[in-house]
Amino acid sequence: MDNEQPTGGWADGLDFVPDPAAKQHALEEFATYLNPQKVRVMRAAGLDIIEAQRSGPWVWDLDGRRFLDCFTSAGSFNVGRRNPRVVAAAHAALDRLDHGNFLLCSREKAELAAKLAEITPGDLSCTMFGTGGGEAVDFAIKLARGSTGRPRIVSSVNGYHGHTGFALSAAGREAFRQPFEPLMPEFVQVPFGDPDVLAVAVDEHTAAVLLEPVQGEGGIVMPPPGYLAAVRAACDRAGALLILDEIQTGLGRTGRWWASEHFGVVPDIMTIAKSLGGSLVPISATVFTEDLREFMIPNPFIHLSTFGGSDIACAVALEVIAVMEETDLVAHAAAMGERLFTGLRSIAEARPEVVAEVRGLGLMAGIEYSEDSMGPRMSYHLARHGVLAIYSGNQPAVMRLMPSLVIEEAEVDFLLEALDRAISDLVSGAGPEEPTPTRPRRRPVRPVAAAG
Ligand SMILES: Cc1ncc(COP(=O)(O)O)c(C=O)c1O
Repeated sequence: MDNEQPTGGWADGLDFVPDPAAKQHALEEFATYLNPQKVRVMRAAGLDIIEAQRSGPWVWDLDGRRFLDCFTSAGSFNVGRRNPRVVAAAHAALDRLDHGNFLLCSREKAELAAKLAEITPGDLSCTMFGTGGGEAVDFAIKLARGSTGRPRIVSSVNGYHGHTGFALSAAGREAFRQPFEPLMPEFVQVPFGDPDVLAVAVDEHTAAVLLEPVQGEGGIVMPPPGYLAAVRAACDRAGALLILDEIQTGLGRTGRWWASEHFGVVPDIMTIAKSLGGSLVPISATVFTEDLREFMIPNPFIHLSTFGGSDIACAVALEVIAVMEETDLVAHAAAMGERLFTGLRSIAEARPEVVAEVRGLGLMAGIEYSEDSMGPRMSYHLARHGVLAIYSGNQPAVMRLMPSLVIEEAEVDFLLEALDRAISDLVSGAGPEEPTPTRPRRRPVRPVAAAG
């Protein structure tokens, strides 16, 4: 594989001995004990990477190859992978804390909730913590139903909010919902971007409209001008709440703290997760206005989560936010985003046969290829040139480029060069090579424990 890259980033060299045999063993065990099809798909896309060293915007495969991580677990590594300050804060937290007792009040939870009230827009000021994005969305929906006494949740076609109970019911992709039906009643999906259809769907039965400000999994779909303001107005007219899911778009990803700021719209409830844990710990937050909290005052135990906002995770999240503030990371993301989009637009102009459109905001970029099959093929070619990039789950023709916000100019240029070279390979008909068939090892026979 030609994966020759300039140096750059925080750690230029390997700090481990590459071990291709250990990598193959891990893939075989994964196929045997987790899912063989996942291994096959990843091999075919040239993404059968076993992550070893991780640093800033880079990740190294166990076989020693280095990749610029432009997937970042769909926006989970905004402050960089293993950001040294966040790692140090995690060590310090481990030295004195643990999860904490979830029924008790906690200093770390209180401090992080106060910080979230400060950095989120408008009157958002109260928090419920969770462990992951789906849980944050589940609670947002519970809060909307509980506080309005209304049942209906309006979400969007191709929207993505996670795979937990309420969140899955709001999923905008039939394939995710259908095997588990019947799901929750009173969930409807409308096309993203059509204010007229939405206005009809939102009425006196609607508890909330749930949207991503920019659809991520749906293929980096931008809201048309005025759309989110029209949604806000439709909610206000009907007395419904607006939930904005900033799990992928938030914490600086789009060059502002929150994507909704680009559109001048403040929600009643906002969900935050992914990068809040600084690539180290699971934590999510549902942030909402004080008047919605009224619903919970008579019963502060109406929603519980043993590990939600654990003391260690809150301490780490506080350092994530401190790093972002003190390094002016949001402005940096905006500047790097401008450089990225300038380069992407000139590639799109030069290669119209491959690139149909580029779109997005800040460091949330989507490249729409001219055919669906180009998404997976470009993942393969980009991996050969040292870039880890994955096409969108709900839209295979669209590749997401969402590097860590700590990416520097030279690394943006590296990405653009790799993209150009990958497109040349695609056009010249190079690869993907025939994937090596996976031969799952035979499962060792174990005695089955007697029931009961
Ligand atoms: C917009 C959005 N909402 C919710 C989720 C679900 O988050 P989690 O996987 O942590 O449950 C995701 C995950 O990708 C997401 O992108």
